[in-house]
Amino acid sequence: MRIGILTGGGDCPGLNAVIRAVTRRAIETFGWEVIGFKDGWKGVLEGNYIPLTAQSVVGILHKGGTILGTSRTNPTKNPEDLIRVKENLKKIGIDALLTVGGDDTLSVALKLHQDGVKVVGIPKTIDNDISATDFTFGFNTAVSIVTDCLDRLQTTGESHHRIMVCEVMGRHAGWIAVHAGIAGSADAILIPEIPFDMEDLCLRLKKRHERKHFSLVVVAEGAKPIGGMEVLITREVDAFGHVRLGGIGQLITQEIKNRTGIETRLTVLGHIQRGGSPTAYDRALATRFGVSAVNAIHNGEFGKMVALRMEKIITIEIEEAILKNKKVDMELYEIASLFFA
Ligand code: F6P
Repeated sequence: MRIGILTGGGDCPGLNAVIRAVTRRAIETFGWEVIGFKDGWKGVLEGNYIPLTAQSVVGILHKGGTILGTSRTNPTKNPEDLIRVKENLKKIGIDALLTVGGDDTLSVALKLHQDGVKVVGIPKTIDNDISATDFTFGFNTAVSIVTDCLDRLQTTGESHHRIMVCEVMGRHAGWIAVHAGIAGSADAILIPEIPFDMEDLCLRLKKRHERKHFSLVVVAEGAKPIGGMEVLITREVDAFGHVRLGGIGQLITQEIKNRTGIETRLTVLGHIQRGGSPTAYDRALATRFGVSAVNAIHNGEFGKMVALRMEKIITIEIEEAILKNKKVDMELYEIASLFFA
């Protein structure tokens, strides 16, 4: 038996932990051969892969990024590419393919499954917006990083009596903003799920400054004002049709400064949230996902994705996972808002 693994889409802490777990489980328990495709679907398209052995995954558990590389290549865009992917998998002798990715990578996996390729999905994204799993690995690390940054912004903001705005990732869902905002005691959290009222935000901040002289505002990159649009860095779209978001932090920082007259500063965390070492939680979750995905292949559960549900790893249909983005739970947001300005 020869299995392949690829990591696609934006990287996230814990990918190497998955690669290690898959490789060791497949080789040491089942005696299979494992190969890793380079740079996501690009590697399958180009037939670019490396053998993965117990030796080649030594020392990678704690490392950020992915030793296989990643890309946003979408082989379903062009019918010839999809044919080439299937031909290459056959030529290389892949009996089953493990795809580690977010909804884009998983949607390609589903297409291949429908065409008869044996695939199993593993969910990954710092955004935690994949349906059908309670958490994706990478999210816990991103929240820890953002919380640490909010703590730092708090001390400098407090010293200067400023409003500190922090822009975090979260294209369609504000999970990072809400979790880190609760942990870092944010006075306002703006998320894509709830268009915000600029006037109300500024009034609340102004009022708070009559007693506190410092505020922390966390804004997810996909947040938008009532009646407004998401702010884009560029209109160009990637192979999956996504625009690049960014700039909402700049916009609200300027508005807050103008409307409240209070000194306001912006920090955009960007890819710092995705880089570096995974937390212990993410290493453990990624390892559990990796082992369970190999088990799923062994059990012939193709077209499935491993998922975390109430602390247990289960398998669900990939289709269920990509049907819609998982939005922030409004009960959680309500808890966060109890502590707002
Ligand atoms: O992985 C998802 C994500 O982190 C989004 O929150 C963000 O919009 C996007 O990746 C940015 O990705 P990149 O700049 O690497 O294309």
